[in-house]
Order: sequence, then structure tokens, then C-alpha cells
Amino acid sequence: MNIIFMGPPGAGKGTQSDFIIEKYQIPHIATGDMFRAAIKNETKLGLEAKSYMDAGKLVPDEVTINIVKERLLEDDTKNGFIFDGFPRTIVQAQALDKMLKELNRDIDVVINIDVPFDVLLKRLSGRRICKVCGTSYHLEFNPPQVAGICDKCGGELYTRSDDNEESARVRLETYTNETKPLIEYYLNRGLLNEVNGLQAVDKVFIDINNIIEGIK
Ligand code: AP5
Ligand code: MG
Ligand code: ZN
Repeated sequence: MNIIFMGPPGAGKGTQSDFIIEKYQIPHIATGDMFRAAIKNETKLGLEAKSYMDAGKLVPDEVTINIVKERLLEDDTKNGFIFDGFPRTIVQAQALDKMLKELNRDIDVVINIDVPFDVLLKRLSGRRICKVCGTSYHLEFNPPQVAGICDKCGGELYTRSDDNEESARVRLETYTNETKPLIEYYLNRGLLNEVNGLQAVDKVFIDINNIIEGIK
């Protein structure tokens, strides 16, 4: 099963991906997580990506497409994958089509998690993430059992450097201008499914799971 999760910043792509990878045992390819790992490891890629990310802008297409290309060549993607946060521009979507064609694979389903912007700003400002395993929490909507500590691994929770109000606003603007047009791109290809991301986390998962089971 080859899945793309789309949706604006804070829609719940990462949260829902955690459920999917556990249930279907497929790798989670999240370009944002890959860039954050590179920043942590102080690699050349990390240095390049950081200024764009902190400003809420997109990392250049060429850089992003190259890391995805390398990742798709790894063996664990052969039985399926879930893309979270990629593609984010028409150029990236076209590059992905080309990569998959060369590998004789195809996208099975695109799931767009829809949430209005006023709710997204609240979700981003209250988000906390585990330093160790990357699980997302929310101070109000999805709190950990013990404040500041990850339920899954006991890791310390932190706030992403691009979750401040200024960067979050730019991210939402960037989404509208550069990523939203992809909804039509995948609609035209008959792959798009919409999910109401305003529902509770477990309800959103039920809807996503029904879509996936429906196309299996
Ligand atoms: P990335 O890491 O992909 O961030 P994003 O798209 O801005 O999305 P988020 O991770 O913020 O949101 P999410 O949908 O995963 O929400 P989550 O589940 O955490 O990208 C970061 C940056 O990297 C980009 O700005 C860009 O610079 C760069 N980048 C990445 N990919 C790129 C690409 N392809 N090209 C170029 N640049 C790229 O949930 C959010 C919060 O809400 C959490 O607190 C969660 O607990 C809560 N929540 C989730 N679901 C619900 C619910 N149903 N009800 C209530 N609360 C909920
Ligand atoms: Mg995410
Ligand atoms: Zn953790």
C-alpha cells in the first residue's frame, strides 16, 4: 500500500501516520522529520534546511526531491510506504511520479486531512513532541499522561522551533500558495480522498482506515 498524507501544518499527518505504520507495518517517510534529524546531526543538509524551516518556508525542491529519491531506494519501501509532508509542490509531485514509474510502482491513495486555519494555529502553538521517538502531543487536545514526558518511551517533550506564531502563520500561507494546488492534481488523477480532521484523533483514524481498507 503506497499512501500519501496531505493536509496543512497541524492537520494531524504525523499523529495519524503513527497509527498507520503500527497497523500496516509500512515505513513512514516524513520529509520534515528527515530534515529535523539532519539538523540534529548537524549535517550539510541540516544546515541548509534549518533557515527555511525556521522561517516557515519550503526547503528547495531539488534538495527535497533528492532525499526522497534516496529513501525510496531503500529495501523497506518495497512493500509500501506512507508519505507525510511530501510532495508539497507540483514540481515535487511530478518528480515523484517519475521516480515511482522508474521503480515500477504507483500511488494507491492520497488522503487529505482537512482542518480550518483558526484551529490549526491552536494545534501548532500547543504541540509538544518527544525528543526521543518523535510522537506528537498537545497540551490541551492530546496531553501526555505525565506533563512533559512521552507516554510511549519516557522521553522529554519539546516545542518545535517553527511552532511559534510568526513561523506558523508563514507555514499556513506557504501551504495555501504552494501545496494546496496538489489537491486538484490528485483529484484529477482520481486518487484524492478527503477526511474531516476536526474530529477526535481516534475518529479521524477510523475514517482513514475505512478508506485504506476500501481500496485494498
Ligand atoms: P513538517 O514537519 O512536515 O511540518 P508541517 O507540514 O508543517 O506539518 P506538522 O508536522 O506541523 O503537522 P502534522 O499534520 O504532522 O500535525 P501533527 O500530527 O503533529 O515540515 C516542517 C518544515 O520542513 C516545513 O515547513 C518545510 O520548511 C520543511 N519541509 C518538510 N517537507 C518538505 C517538502 N516536501 N518540501 C519542502 N520543504 C519541506 O498534529 C499537530 C498538533 O495537533 C499536535 O499537537 C497533535 O497532538 C494535535 N492533533 C492532531 N490531531 C488532532 C485532532 N484530531 N484533534 C485535536 N488535536 C489534534
Ligand atoms: Mg508532522
Ligand atoms: Zn517518545
